[in-house]
Amino acid sequence: MAAPVRGMSLLRQACLGLVRPTGAQVCTQVPYRCYSTPGVGQVQVDMNSETGVATVRLNRPPVNSLNLDVLTELGIALEKLDADRTCRAMVLASAVPGIFSAGLDILEMYQSTPERCVAFWRALQDAWLGLYGSRLVTMAAIEGHSPAGGCLLAMSCDYRVMADGKFQIGLNETRLGIVAPFWFEDVMLNTIGHRETEKALQLGAMYSAQQALSIGLVDKVVPLAEVMPTVQGELKNWLQIPDAARVITKTSMRKQVLDRLRSQKEKDAQFFADFIGRDSVQRSLGAYIASLQKRKS
Ligand SMILES: *[C@@H]1O[C@H](CO)[C@@H](O)[C@H](O)[C@H]1NC(C)=O
Repeated sequence: MAAPVRGMSLLRQACLGLVRPTGAQVCTQVPYRCYSTPGVGQVQVDMNSETGVATVRLNRPPVNSLNLDVLTELGIALEKLDADRTCRAMVLASAVPGIFSAGLDILEMYQSTPERCVAFWRALQDAWLGLYGSRLVTMAAIEGHSPAGGCLLAMSCDYRVMADGKFQIGLNETRLGIVAPFWFEDVMLNTIGHRETEKALQLGAMYSAQQALSIGLVDKVVPLAEVMPTVQGELKNWLQIPDAARVITKTSMRKQVLDRLRSQKEKDAQFFADFIGRDSVQRSLGAYIASLQKRKS
């Protein structure tokens, strides 16, 4: 698979065959006519044209870890929904019970090549820019664990509903000896404020749904079966607001953080590849992978 091309949208690249249109994404014509088949692929897109609400489900068992393919697919799905004038809102959810997303796929970082690391990071940047900068009303339905990159995706939505019970959410990368990039930090700062972010990031803290609610990391906590109905109910409030006014407001609130990454994407990707390539980081990742394998057997 060729590395994504800078300055060209992912959707266009997929349609031109420059990046692999995996799973849900099937291109029928160049450049913008793509369709998705609900229920297939690692990112399932289900568009309800009556309500204008799309449901996007991550579907990469066992834990929805985000690898290059999934992030590319997610970026394409977001871009496509953004371009679809009948779509007004999006619910981000999981097709895998018990997990929202475990975050970035560690196997993309362990014993990888610098080129692959950079391609992986670009796909993450693009998916995030698409989500955080989306003109749609975006809601996270958190029906399972949501560590690290899973927490980033949830925080990047406009609203979060989380299932009560045993599930946890947080940016716990420091526990792995890796560092959440500045834009993860920015998003968390904008969500829960400086003091809580300092503690959360340094400690790599994971929060229960109730704890997350108390610091404003999620907006509502309900029993698991109520998550989707609650999201749908909340969407009604958001969709009452005229789109244009809401979008201008959202853009004005988020532009600074988006621009901060946009202005240094390549530097950020290179930094990631260099950091991940360090011996100490590779050792730490190797030990973590070994501990996961032990836990399984
Ligand atoms: C981060 O949190 C998740 C969910 O609790 C857990 O499975 C994972 O092992 C944690 N990562 C580290 C490095 O502690």
